[in-house]
Amino acid sequence: MKYNITNKNLAPEGKKRIEWAETKMPVLRLIRKRFKKNKPLRNRRIGCCLHVTTETANLMRTLKAGGAQVFLTASNPLSTQDDVAAALATDDIRIFARNGESRREYYGNMAAVLKGKPEVLIDDGADLISTAHKKRVSGVIGGTEETTTGVIRLKQMEHNKVLQFPIIAVNDSLTKHLFDNRYGTGQSTIDGILRATNMLISGCNFVVAGYGWCGRGLAMRAKGMGAQVIVTEVDPVKALEARMDGYSVMPMTEAAKIGDVFVTVTGDINVITKKHMLKMKNGAIIANSGHFDVEIDKPGLRKITRKKRTIRNSCDEYQLKNEKKIYMLAEGRLVNLAAAEGHPAMVMDMSFANQALAVEYLFNNCNLQNQIYNLPQRLDQEIARLKLKSMGIKIDRLTQEQRRYLSSWKMGT
Ligand code: ADE
Repeated sequence: MKYNITNKNLAPEGKKRIEWAETKMPVLRLIRKRFKKNKPLRNRRIGCCLHVTTETANLMRTLKAGGAQVFLTASNPLSTQDDVAAALATDDIRIFARNGESRREYYGNMAAVLKGKPEVLIDDGADLISTAHKKRVSGVIGGTEETTTGVIRLKQMEHNKVLQFPIIAVNDSLTKHLFDNRYGTGQSTIDGILRATNMLISGCNFVVAGYGWCGRGLAMRAKGMGAQVIVTEVDPVKALEARMDGYSVMPMTEAAKIGDVFVTVTGDINVITKKHMLKMKNGAIIANSGHFDVEIDKPGLRKITRKKRTIRNSCDEYQLKNEKKIYMLAEGRLVNLAAAEGHPAMVMDMSFANQALAVEYLFNNCNLQNQIYNLPQRLDQEIARLKLKSMGIKIDRLTQEQRRYLSSWKMGT
């Protein structure tokens, strides 16, 4: 089977939207141009598990331009843009992804990618890499990981000494998490909430669970739109930082009573529990922007629900047994991708430039151990330099004197 998509006729629409994203991805465009000329991935097979968006499509085209045969499956059952999947299928990408696919189909599609005998795996959340390990797939020389949650899982595999090939933690590049996780998640999460609810952010109590880079970005954007932001945290340093950034900080049990909107971005399980939901105000909205749909206790919510109905796209009304109504967006899955389109191309440009360079690096460096690596700093810096250039921004350079000063220790007061 060459592909498994919803509707091939959607391809023209997807193609136009992919072109639009391309105009906002200058760094990836430059890499594609070089790949097209030098073919560094000639005859290589690459298996990808990513959100199937217009930005991902541009990464797929870049890998193909480098000479690779590319296999793609979705990293979430609700994030696939079916028109993009159709356009990729007509562009000879072996794609297996349908929006709304069941869990069974999700893993079936992943198996189809692994059947292509990929040499490098590009992952977002570590489902593809962990499945390859469970199925003892051979022939993989390395992998890359896009997201914080995936890196945490893979570090656990490294710790347990079960990792069978080297991994580049793309998430840990500065040009990835400082921008994608912060500004990307910040904006696209608000975008998802607005599309699903059309609510006014201004004046509401907006609860952000987790103050990592995603939480920081989200809190910043909610505040910018006039919300009263409350942060919940378990890490004392992050909690302190949130307080000094100007937000209220309190435990979820207290926030539950006053929040109008709740968004989880912790990467952990059962952050909003049944106990919290029973305390919430009538009309409270709950959403998740962390990678997996485990942050809100969905089985617990079902247990305390009398009646459920879908009231708008990506917005389910739960009438609780205590007679209050609460609203869950996008079934508790990534609200920014399931109810909106994910991060804007402008920021995915840097994330996917990291991915393209990480794949090239893996093929060029066959002596890596079965460990987690960062992309070398010089490549991270190069991506920032190219991005600045594309934005028409020039910066200063160290003078000889400054360089000498920084490398000496003798000059003091
Ligand atoms: N993750 C978050 N936003 C994304 C996007 N637009 N494309 C692919 N992966 C993403």
